[in-house]
Amino acid sequence: MENATKLEEVRTMEYGGTVSAEHEENEGSCCGPSCCSTDVENGLRAGGTAPEAEAETDDAARLKELVREKYTEIASQDKVENQASCCGSGGCSVEVYNIMTEDYTSLEGYVADADLGLGCGLPTQFAQIKAGDTVIDLGSGAGNDCFVARREVGETGKVIGVDFTDAMLERARTNAVKLGYVNVEFRKGDIEQLPVADDTADVVVSNCVLNLVPDKNKVFGEIFRTLKPGGHFSISDIVIDSELPDPIKSAAEMYAGCVSGAIQKEEYLGLIEKNGFKNVTLQKDRAITVPDDILQRYLDEEALSAFKTSGVGIHSLTVYAEKPATA
Ligand SMILES: C[S@@+](CC[C@H](N)C(=O)[O-])C[C@H]1O[C@@H](n2cnc3c(N)ncnc32)[C@H](O)[C@@H]1O
Repeated sequence: MENATKLEEVRTMEYGGTVSAEHEENEGSCCGPSCCSTDVENGLRAGGTAPEAEAETDDAARLKELVREKYTEIASQDKVENQASCCGSGGCSVEVYNIMTEDYTSLEGYVADADLGLGCGLPTQFAQIKAGDTVIDLGSGAGNDCFVARREVGETGKVIGVDFTDAMLERARTNAVKLGYVNVEFRKGDIEQLPVADDTADVVVSNCVLNLVPDKNKVFGEIFRTLKPGGHFSISDIVIDSELPDPIKSAAEMYAGCVSGAIQKEEYLGLIEKNGFKNVTLQKDRAITVPDDILQRYLDEEALSAFKTSGVGIHSLTVYAEKPATA
């Protein structure tokens, strides 16, 4: 329930108001997130789900909704607008307009209309995509990585982008139509339950998306399921190398800007191995410095100073792994 409370706070902040205590009153009364159920008995709901488990599901659903709202807003902006304004990849900083993204513009297949400045690496550069491959891009946004991958798979291959934000899908599909690409498809879906058949892809890529997803273990399970035996992935993402302070964690604005939903590097790599992948390799590991003016929005002076001396690091990494040929 603590997370739900924090999200209510953040939602209030996000829409420009001051933080109110209403969410706490709400929780204690109908219809707050903790009540309005008539079938709570002996600690179990009618379906037999423990209340804690259900609360977790509620929190995950709320986080996803928040992410979807954020990316709906971003889909209507261009890269410059996005990076220079609140809610973009610059994370509202007046000091630095681009804290995560890498420069795509020189990559073959680059499509400016698809580049909203939302990535945190260049996974396609490391993905060893070959002509004729089928590639899946998780959280494809406006199609930035899909169009670069499309250049590599050529006319005989196929690229499938998956995203759950309608406005992003629309923008990506418009881009594909404008370019006349018939082998780039954008499917609506949650990457925790990919709308893709088993053993479909030669390569899976993703750029700065898994950090936004509540159940990263499920996503790696889905990658394993949809890769062909012997296939591989190359994923760029944000991880941390120690616990992030609570105020940062609870700031959904930072979450949707790729930091607060990040998990520890070792845990992230552990999930990959746990799901059966082999040859897990770090292809790139880049330290990210979050500008002070962003941090000051969430931390007081003392907390900021403690954070800066804590050695807590935020990293953009690109990680590769293979599904065994005999899986
Ligand atoms: C940081 S943007 C990255 C977009 C794209 N990869 C790029 O680099 O331009 C994150 C994207 O992931 C999508 N997304 C986040 N969580 C998702 C989920 N659980 N399932 C599907 N898409 C998701 C968002 O809608 C958004 O388009």
